[in-house]
Amino acid sequence: MPVIAVIGAQWGDEGKGKVVDLLAEKARVVVRFSGGDNAGHTVVNPYGEFRLHLIPCGIFYPQVVCIIGNGVVINPEVLIGEVDQLNQRGVDTTRLFISDRAHLIMPYHILLDGLEEESRGGKALGTTRKGIGPAFADKTARLGIRVGDLLDKEVLLERLRFILEYKNVILTKIYGVSPLSLDEIYSQYCQYGERLAPYIRETTIMLEEALHRNELVILEGAQGTLLDLDFGTYPYTTSSSPLAGGGCLGAGLGPTGISRILGVFKAYCTRVGSGPMPTELKDETGDLIRERAHEYGTTTGRPRRCGWFDAVAARFSTRINGFTGAAITRLDVLDILPRLKICVGYKLDGKTIDYFPGNVATLERCQPIYEELPGWQVPISHIRQYGELPIEAQQYVARLEELTSCPVNIISVGAERGQTIHKMPIF
Ligand code: IMP
Repeated sequence: MPVIAVIGAQWGDEGKGKVVDLLAEKARVVVRFSGGDNAGHTVVNPYGEFRLHLIPCGIFYPQVVCIIGNGVVINPEVLIGEVDQLNQRGVDTTRLFISDRAHLIMPYHILLDGLEEESRGGKALGTTRKGIGPAFADKTARLGIRVGDLLDKEVLLERLRFILEYKNVILTKIYGVSPLSLDEIYSQYCQYGERLAPYIRETTIMLEEALHRNELVILEGAQGTLLDLDFGTYPYTTSSSPLAGGGCLGAGLGPTGISRILGVFKAYCTRVGSGPMPTELKDETGDLIRERAHEYGTTTGRPRRCGWFDAVAARFSTRINGFTGAAITRLDVLDILPRLKICVGYKLDGKTIDYFPGNVATLERCQPIYEELPGWQVPISHIRQYGELPIEAQQYVARLEELTSCPVNIISVGAERGQTIHKMPIF
């Protein structure tokens, strides 16, 4: 059985949660490998509707082992809250494991995320203010505290004392706010450690064992390719790598281990937070999509910016991830539109370009070049066979396949598991 990576192909919120929930039926292990509780995966299944921020979407299947990998930054309070909420609603979490190498989000990370955003003024990144950026910055600066450190109170105290002294200088001298208390954070994190201890493991061994047993492993992406720290619209990006390559590093798996890479594309584009988005619609069509699809952030509730499908960005995403196939989600949202547009190139300073520029100032000058297609204007949420979709919807999907050079495996026409068209087998 292969390892399949499920990757956000746009700016996040593509509907990866539903796709993972669907594929996890046949899986043995599901691993989250990047980001933190900035992610919000909505899953609708027989247990009800859930919004997961840290726990992999495979948790609803009794045979699935769920791993929060080393590449994730973990707010323990959020994780414990999520475990409690799942347990209260009858979902077993005894098959959840957390890498001892994953880094912890600390109270100063959350505080600094907000202070840094405020100090940026009009140039704010629009972060989720969950402490993600400061936690990954500390990881890189070798100032992080890892989940495994929770298991040894002396190590935790020594590490926290050293780091907090430094953080308190920044908080008081640069931002002029009160210092944080060592005792309070230490006792709080000791409690988290006691609570999380049963879940903490050397998780790469678990992964290796699953591969040896030839079991299906899913790497569950968070955020989207265009928010990647290297390849996204820097600096308007997140702080980790949502790419398939990030899956190897964040789960503890060699690149040869991944056999399928499924890019999840929404049938249109959305973005939450600041930064360029060439196909953004600041008109009634954008508002119509937002309201019809309830495009508001799962984590922050912010309205998402909506726009037409950007095939230039999609091609870039396919290239840097090496997608072997695609899932097109929320196709039903477009049911009501008489005409659909797809961005097939950009006009940049009078010239036509067909690549996604690496620099935001350049990208901001890019004007989308659109191709128009007819809409289908009938409901499609009840359809389960590709051939039964209206011809216009088939044409739209076929054009996306052609423009992205990526075969479509799955089409989602509603939030529920069953509202899915399996166009072509993944395996
Ligand atoms: P951060 O990840 O909280 O630092 O936010 C950086 C940027 O990534 C902001 O524009 C956020 O809105 C965006 N972002 C982070 N996580 C998600 C997500 O799960 N979906 C969509 N956008 C996200």
